[in-house]
Amino acid sequence: MCAKQVKKVQAEVPTTGHSWDGIEEYDNPMPRWWVWVFYLSILFAIGYSIAYPAWPLIHGATRGFLGQNTRADVDAEIKRFDDANAAIKAKLVAAPLDQIAQDDELKQYALRAGASVFKNNCAQCHGAGAAGVQGKGYPNLLDNDWLWGGTVDDIHTTVTHGIRNTTDADARYSEMPKFGVDALLEPAQIGDVVEYVLQISGQDHDAAKATAGAQLFADNCAACHGPEGKGDRAQGAPNLTDAIWLYGGDRDTITHTVTYARFGVMPNWNERLSEDEIRAVATYVHSLGGGE
Ligand code: HEC
Ligand code: HEC
Repeated sequence: MCAKQVKKVQAEVPTTGHSWDGIEEYDNPMPRWWVWVFYLSILFAIGYSIAYPAWPLIHGATRGFLGQNTRADVDAEIKRFDDANAAIKAKLVAAPLDQIAQDDELKQYALRAGASVFKNNCAQCHGAGAAGVQGKGYPNLLDNDWLWGGTVDDIHTTVTHGIRNTTDADARYSEMPKFGVDALLEPAQIGDVVEYVLQISGQDHDAAKATAGAQLFADNCAACHGPEGKGDRAQGAPNLTDAIWLYGGDRDTITHTVTYARFGVMPNWNERLSEDEIRAVATYVHSLGGGE
């Protein structure tokens, strides 16, 4: 704009009367379209808050005339899936456990549902990949080394009733004696039997002590861990001859185990999961590689 035009505009547009060091403010009206959009958005907001849930109240919120409710939508969605799966769930509950894997449709469903049950309920202890937590007593469920048994039936029982919990009278139960704390063995005897466990698990050991430990093992441990230390599933007593350890296979950890004993607890799931969910997760665990 040339200086002349600027002058002319200045003359036509009134100012607000504000003046800062001689700089004045034009009093231009808002563009009409903008003002209309502004009014329309107010109208829309009023309409919206009448039609839809909008204003928080002390308990809940205004409901809106259209009755829209996302929580009900989710419930409906869940119900839709439940209805769609009702038939296959009934079939899963009715099938003999060892037949589930033979029926392709049932197997596919059980594996998918089981994987999700596992993620939500089991992964915090057994790990997202079911590999367990070494040293903490949470067993690896991928291998074929089982404390209580690895058939679908065994796994189903373990999951249903849990292990050493106080909430299910049918929980799997056994208790290793506290050989040190309860003075069932002298510290030196514990030292000997630990050397023997190191020997049968193929680790470095003191041969003389291990020989003394062999008799102690036969007298004190074999009843549960078996004469050769290979474990006993009826009592959940681990195999001590392999490289798979629940709590740890080094000298210090075994000494600690024999002195204080261990008492791994797993909750029973029959109160938290439905039968079809337990069957699904048992099938899933069984499929992970170690299933028998
Ligand atoms: C609070 C931790 C915890 C949770 C959650 C948990 N477990 Fe366990 N689970 C254990 C412990 C501890 C043991 C080993 C108990 C023992 O020493 O005998 C175990 C053992 C098992 C065994 C027996 C393994 C064997 O070698 O015989 C199976 C099978 C199993 N869990 C499956 C599951 C499934 C499936 C879920 C989810 C529905 C689950 N667990 C949830 C702690 C847990
Ligand atoms: C009454 C049965 C019983 C007797 C007797 C017993 N144990 Fe155990 N032992 C168990 C059970 C059950 C477990 C598993 C505990 C758990 O899962 O929390 C276990 C666990 C262990 C473990 C831990 C294994 C691992 O994978 O970390 C060691 C080591 C062990 N026992 C050694 C011995 C020795 C040595 C003796 C004899 C001095 C002995 N036990 C006597 C039942 C027994």
